[in-house]
Amino acid sequence: MAKLFAIKPISSCQEEASAEGAHTLKRSLGPVNLITLGIGAIIGAGIFVLTGQAAAQFAGPAVVLSFIIAGIGCVFAGLCYAEFASMIPIAGSAYTYGYTTLGELVAWIIGWALCLEYAFGAATVAVGWSGYVSSLLGFFGVRVPFNPTPSLALTVFGHPFSAKVDIFALCAIIVVIAVLVLGVRESANFNSAAVIIKVSVVLFFIGIATIYAFGHWSHMLANWHPFIPPNGGRFGQFGWSGIMRAGSVVFFAYIGFDAVSTAAQEARNPQKDLPFGILGSLIICTVLYIIVSGLLTGIKPYTALNTAAPVADGAAAIGATWGVVLIDIGAIAGLASVMLVMILGQTRVLYTMAHDGLLPKWVSSIHPRFRTPWLVTMAVGVLVAFLAAFFNIAFLSELVSLGTLLAFTIVCLGVWLLRARHPELPRPFRTPWVPLVPIAGMVISLALMVSADTPAKIGFFSWLIAGLLIYFTYSIRHSKVQGMAAEVTQPR
Ligand code: ALA
Repeated sequence: MAKLFAIKPISSCQEEASAEGAHTLKRSLGPVNLITLGIGAIIGAGIFVLTGQAAAQFAGPAVVLSFIIAGIGCVFAGLCYAEFASMIPIAGSAYTYGYTTLGELVAWIIGWALCLEYAFGAATVAVGWSGYVSSLLGFFGVRVPFNPTPSLALTVFGHPFSAKVDIFALCAIIVVIAVLVLGVRESANFNSAAVIIKVSVVLFFIGIATIYAFGHWSHMLANWHPFIPPNGGRFGQFGWSGIMRAGSVVFFAYIGFDAVSTAAQEARNPQKDLPFGILGSLIICTVLYIIVSGLLTGIKPYTALNTAAPVADGAAAIGATWGVVLIDIGAIAGLASVMLVMILGQTRVLYTMAHDGLLPKWVSSIHPRFRTPWLVTMAVGVLVAFLAAFFNIAFLSELVSLGTLLAFTIVCLGVWLLRARHPELPRPFRTPWVPLVPIAGMVISLALMVSADTPAKIGFFSWLIAGLLIYFTYSIRHSKVQGMAAEVTQPR
């Protein structure tokens, strides 16, 4: 039993973190780079696609409140991430934090849940990307010679499968995987450019929508009324339960700030700059999201927002026809950068797990010429392409949110436990008001998990069970930490 809770010594993580030399990652990222990385991973399908769907189906104009609730939960979790990232600045993120505090089994569960966040997240974004490509092509009157989402008449248990093959999404993943296998040198520059484009596009939308709001105040007020549409008789169908349900959907929009912590070994001054990057990117995006969702639900009736490209449609509704093209282009570039960062984050977490012996060695094998973890990148690519092609965005995004919320809950718990067990450890960044902030982070995360849709919950538990099977049949027998513990207890 004790084996399951074997802890990776924090000192060994700190040694790994402070290692220098040719075999280590280059420390080149400053505070602005880290905020850029965070925004690169955060702004994507959540704001560009899911806002409209969450408003139309669950919360109405009160989707703004859903963004506020999810944002507060993320800031609490972000504060806990910041403490860990400053203490243990190595690439495994939540997986490593779990390993050093709650033991191997919990670490494995977090690592496995992070696959939901990163791989399934990339697939979700690919489906959103496909919607914006169709919107752009449609604007120019380009008729695609094939249906980008042909129906396969495939239904499994009736629900989660959209029974369609999203060909655009499939192509997007193939290109991103090719870039990642060939080398990531260019991808950092691409990410910075994409961040500039997508933040400009979001600001542009806020600008034109605000000008419109001042001229059409009564129209906006009419669309905002009722602010909280009455509940339709089922949990999550408007009313307060709808706000929570929409919260579990739009939570997706915040995912990614934790990707900053996966760049810990490339940060110049991780103790100071990681908390700055995590919290800075999170706060900037929270403010942008609240403003965009408020304006969007004022411009169009919330019932008309359930489309594949609601922000572009919002620009069209106020007559900014050329704005539609700008928003489409911004979303296409922006969502591509999210896919890139997510798949990169996924390969880093799997790489760290393989390094610890919990996954087979081939997962951490590096291509001799491209110097990238090519095998695992391609394996992740196959999984992501399959998911993006066959599943719909609503199901995928909720599954991603559930996995990430579980990781957040465990990180919050970890900060609290580590404070109690090792109050003496140096903490360059301290989460304020412990245990209040970690408890609030856990409560909001758990409340959002409970509010998710049933098929997503079934998918989530199936994923966890599959993970536990792998742990008990493979990982526990190959773990390096278990090996170290056995050596220590072996009689000489
Ligand atoms: N937060 C990222 C997005 O919205 C995952 O696309």
